[in-house]
Amino acid sequence: MKHYILAIESSCDDTSAAVMDDEFICLSNVTASQQIHQQYGGVVPELASRAHQTNIIPVVDVALKQAKVDKNNLSAVAFTRGPGLLGSLLVGVSFAKTFAMSLNIPIIDVNHLDAHVLAHFVKDNPQQDVPSFPYVCLLVSGGNTQIIRVNSASDMEVLGKTIDDAAGETIDKAAKILDLPYPGGPHIDRLSQSGKPVLQFAKSHIPDYDYSFSGLKTSILYTLRDKLKENPDYIKENINDIAASVQQAVVDSLLLKFEKVLKDTKIKTIALAGGVSANSLLRQRFTQLGDKYGCKTFIPKFSYTTDNAAMVAACGMFKFLNGDFAPLDLPAYAR
Ligand code: KG4
Repeated sequence: MKHYILAIESSCDDTSAAVMDDEFICLSNVTASQQIHQQYGGVVPELASRAHQTNIIPVVDVALKQAKVDKNNLSAVAFTRGPGLLGSLLVGVSFAKTFAMSLNIPIIDVNHLDAHVLAHFVKDNPQQDVPSFPYVCLLVSGGNTQIIRVNSASDMEVLGKTIDDAAGETIDKAAKILDLPYPGGPHIDRLSQSGKPVLQFAKSHIPDYDYSFSGLKTSILYTLRDKLKENPDYIKENINDIAASVQQAVVDSLLLKFEKVLKDTKIKTIALAGGVSANSLLRQRFTQLGDKYGCKTFIPKFSYTTDNAAMVAACGMFKFLNGDFAPLDLPAYAR
């Protein structure tokens, strides 16, 4: 008998539901993104929770219909337990528990970061290639920057992480200085296409595989402040070059440490994950780095870069196949 699970993601500002079969084939992945935060220049937690409440039932309904799976044929419900915004998580967690209880099926808790790392196991067709263990994953999102050695779906080792700001946060802050809409990452990417990385910013040098982006962030701020003193129209006249310079500085910093890991560990399978993995320069340079070290390289499909329930389903399916279920009183966690 085939098994199907429903997965729910509601950790930040995307309400997403997916249905997956026990061969990791994604039968549907439906996401309602919240536009309301744009006018505030960042996610407003209370508004996010309310939007999740409005969206969750229709999103699940569409996901089940698209997958052509009746709710009575589901074997479990997986959900993002954390980390994320507590109010947002609570909507998904409560829904998952209630829905599973009404169907008398188990629940599976999923860590949001593990889900990003395992997004490469989401299959759109049975022939699709997936990473073999161990692999090294560069996880870059709005709130996290980590290098993770993935020994198995349940054994992940953080080799390096940011000691202050995340890469996405740095790009978003730079975009804010340039008066671009939130989130700034896609705008920086788009503007960079017609720019040259002419500006040099100071980067932090810290030991081991850890990252630090606060120095770069300050350097971007001070460089632009000085340029504006000389020419008040500097940003307007040079926005493409500034974007390209920011993008290059972040990508250089990310790959410097990742290359160090590749040299030291000699692992030959690498993967990119998280919202910033949508960045065109990062995707291109990550692939080149993989080629340089003879690695098999996994770059996520655009739909699996940002928050989505398909990746939660993949992580949940590993746990389902291991019979690793959660008790109904398991709480959500923000950090
Ligand atoms: O993983 P994610 O969806 O969520 C959180 O961490 O909450 O990542 C969002 C981040 C934001 O910082 C956004 O600006 C960035 O991913 N991002 C990009 C691009 N698309 C999204 N950064 C650079 N280039 C992009 N094309």
